[in-house]
Amino acid sequence: LKQALPYVRLVGESWPLPLSRAHYEYLALSKQADLAPGLVPALLHHNETLALTVMELLEPHIIMRKGLVAAAQYPRFAGDITPSWRGRCSSRPTSRLSAAEKKEGIAAFAGNHALCKITEDLIFTDPYRIAEQNRWTAPYLDGLAASLRDDMDLHVAISRLKLKFMASPEALLHGDLHTGSIMVTDSQTRVIDPEFAFYGPMGFDVGAVLANLLMAYFASAGHERAPGERAAFEGWVLETVEQVWNEFARKFLDLWRAGAAGDAYPGLALRRRDGRGAAGGRAAGLHAAPVRRCGRLRRGQNHPPHLRPRPQHRFRADRGSAEAGDQRGARRAAGAGDDGGGGGLPIDRRRHRRRAKAAGLDAGVCERLKADALQ
Ligand SMILES: Nc1ncnc2c1ncn2[C@@H]1O[C@H](COP(=O)(O)OP(=O)(O)OP(=O)(O)O)[C@@H](O)[C@H]1O
Ligand SMILES: [Mg+2]
Repeated sequence: LKQALPYVRLVGESWPLPLSRAHYEYLALSKQADLAPGLVPALLHHNETLALTVMELLEPHIIMRKGLVAAAQYPRFAGDITPSWRGRCSSRPTSRLSAAEKKEGIAAFAGNHALCKITEDLIFTDPYRIAEQNRWTAPYLDGLAASLRDDMDLHVAISRLKLKFMASPEALLHGDLHTGSIMVTDSQTRVIDPEFAFYGPMGFDVGAVLANLLMAYFASAGHERAPGERAAFEGWVLETVEQVWNEFARKFLDLWRAGAAGDAYPGLALRRRDGRGAAGGRAAGLHAAPVRRCGRLRRGQNHPPHLRPRPQHRFRADRGSAEAGDQRGARRAAGAGDDGGGGGLPIDRRRHRRRAKAAGLDAGVCERLKADALQ
């Protein structure tokens, strides 16, 4: 039985939280049961008024984090945590959704913003500024904490990721997939507590799993009673990091090749079986960045009526548009290149510097954020 309280359980009434999270947890559990059968506890009952959910009791499962502290190894974990999305429900991956289904899915979870805000603050904002929730081992890590606050390049990078988290509704996420949200036995893996669920960037959950495995690896030495005692466990953790990513990538591409019947990527090159299926993986990372260039490419072929000049002018306009949004640039902007999606967009640097100075901001940071916004 799980009943939501109007505040964070571990902190108390000083940190209020809406009861509606019980609704989103229930909704996510039912979608996940359909998408990845057997990976979540079965739903038995839900009562909206009481913010109450009855689910399968997982026994003798333990919280995976506790198992990792005890140096337990879970050989099935990498395969289990990267399911094949066998289900056929409406929350199946974007490659198989119609545009209408996708938008309805996004809308169904859009109200869970209070839980998203926790992640936006705790992961993407607070570690980089003075904040009440921050904890570190003082005085030993004071220098490291200060360096996180002072590193402007890091602030730019984290701002980009935060924007991606807030504004890239690619897939239904668990949203809080640390090893405290996973229950295990030697032969089973179950994911619990999807109260942070929403449509977000599809790499977020797998990234959280990898980060938590790496944290278990780095924390391991602190649990040693004799030198080298946990070496086999530590080796297993590192292997598992690789396996989780490889399994995720393999299953993602298998799914892609099996038939991208949705509206987002209607087949063609993205489904090729000749090893270039990886294009599908890259396309799946597609965000707002390439839209501008792709728009120009499209315009080179298909002017809307008000842009259609006489034929000889149209030829020049079409070629100019296509060249300005050349295919290489569009691919690069879509993430295939290594320029971070900038794609050589001309930016009026002097104008940004003037504005940044007027606002009392670091000009370089402003320029790069503005470049992102323009993309
Ligand atoms: N289906 C289940 N079967 C058995 N035990 C469970 C199940 N679901 C949760 N638990 C146990 O209850 C604990 C709390 O569950 P859960 O994390 O869902 O609650 P929560 O209120 O969201 O907690 P938190 O504030 O830590 O996120 C888990 O750590 C786990 O030990
Ligand atoms: Mg919880």
